[in-house]
Amino acid sequence: MKVELSSKDIEAEIEIILTEGFGNPLVEEKELLQKVGFKGEQDETFLFAEKGKLFAGVSNKEKESLRSAIASAIRSISSTKYSTFKIDYKENIDAIVEGAILGSYSFDKYKSKKEEEVLRKLTIISSNEDELKSSTIISNATNFTRDIVNTPPEDCYPEILANIAQELASNNNLECKILTKKELEDEKMNTLLAVARASRYEPRVIHLTHKPKNPKAVISIVGKGLTYDSGGLSLKPSDFMVTMKLDKSGGSAVLGILKAVSELNLPIEVHGFVGAVENMIGGDAYKPDDVLFAKNGKTIEVRNTDAEGRLVLADVLGYAQQEVKADYIFDIATLTGAAVVGVGQYTSAIMGFNEELKEKLVKSAKNSGELASTLDFNRYLKKSLQSNIADICNISNTRYGGAITAGQFLSEFINKDMQQKWLHIDIAGPAFVEHTWGENPYGGSGASVRMVVDFIKNISN
Ligand code: BES
Ligand code: ZN
Ligand code: ZN
Repeated sequence: MKVELSSKDIEAEIEIILTEGFGNPLVEEKELLQKVGFKGEQDETFLFAEKGKLFAGVSNKEKESLRSAIASAIRSISSTKYSTFKIDYKENIDAIVEGAILGSYSFDKYKSKKEEEVLRKLTIISSNEDELKSSTIISNATNFTRDIVNTPPEDCYPEILANIAQELASNNNLECKILTKKELEDEKMNTLLAVARASRYEPRVIHLTHKPKNPKAVISIVGKGLTYDSGGLSLKPSDFMVTMKLDKSGGSAVLGILKAVSELNLPIEVHGFVGAVENMIGGDAYKPDDVLFAKNGKTIEVRNTDAEGRLVLADVLGYAQQEVKADYIFDIATLTGAAVVGVGQYTSAIMGFNEELKEKLVKSAKNSGELASTLDFNRYLKKSLQSNIADICNISNTRYGGAITAGQFLSEFINKDMQQKWLHIDIAGPAFVEHTWGENPYGGSGASVRMVVDFIKNISN
């Protein structure tokens, strides 16, 4: 859906009218709406076709409610032939734009019969060009991430992810370096290579850079890019394997973030790193009982090959810290099912040692339309990662607190001087949508793109 602004009223087939209960501007249709049972509740919609009006309920004027209401309104007419819409609304234009662009997203590349393509356009009667531009860029970058996540694993393996990064780099004037297997060996990224070994697709590490002149700060963002996670020899049960193409969501978000920051021209140097790997089974698969040597010299006892994301990230975090002296380093990963149990499927779990930094990111999530909450590390859980034969185990010896122990595992691969600058974002819950919610239709959600871009924008201010 295309979104435009017009300072004057225009003609459109359908006018979207947001209704908070039955307050203005509903006086005219109030009786009819009551008759049809429309109460004006959040996300409720009613198309009054004869009058060219689409009523959409909102519970308040907060951005979150507006995004969701606009998304519902647009979804409700997705099977109609209407193509021009307008809305007369002067506040929180960014939320209206996001609701429209994110809410109208669909992934139909693999449908042989495409829904009849109607090019839809929404005109907002307003003149706030800046807000329109910025929220359009961020929403399109989120949809770009969604497209990557939604692509099936046989069409999006590590080399393809690297090609997508290279294409983005050439379109958006980014620096791009791709490390192939030989270079990963030279860099001693042995844990990443072990995870990758049984796949017929060789791994890649992607390094993208947005480099403005005189940057105000430098941030590195590291993404888990498991193009498929079968679990490896600790094979996932079939019901849990379905949707594991989503395991590249962190890496895909990194690409979306680089797209957004370059198009927004933000005065921050942003480095994106993606560990692109496929976790498979085979005669040469890595095994429970193996001991791996990570890039930073630590040894890891493998006790479960399905806890592969942390192994890949351990090495990519090591590489990122070697390559860039950053003011901030974040990692984004669909790391644990435990995070979904802990905070629910809508919320990202944020971990780290710096309380202020964690709170800043939670605020950015709220401000940009995402849900996030913090989980605290503790020294008792940390002990559950002890190994009898190596420096650390890749899984803990307790059934509980799995999102935290995974975060604490990663903390072992963050250099001392970077510990206060590091945040770990577990997006296992919100990365993939099974039942549409708010402005998130089925499939990849692009989780963390909006919150991290908001964080980077705020460093600029
Ligand atoms: N990619 C999964 C985590 C995941 C689960 C993401 C569900 C999204 C939805 C990860 O690699 C994994 O398998 N983690 C294991 C860790 C366990 C073996 C300690 C898990 O969460 O079960
Ligand atoms: Zn796994
Ligand atoms: Zn995984």
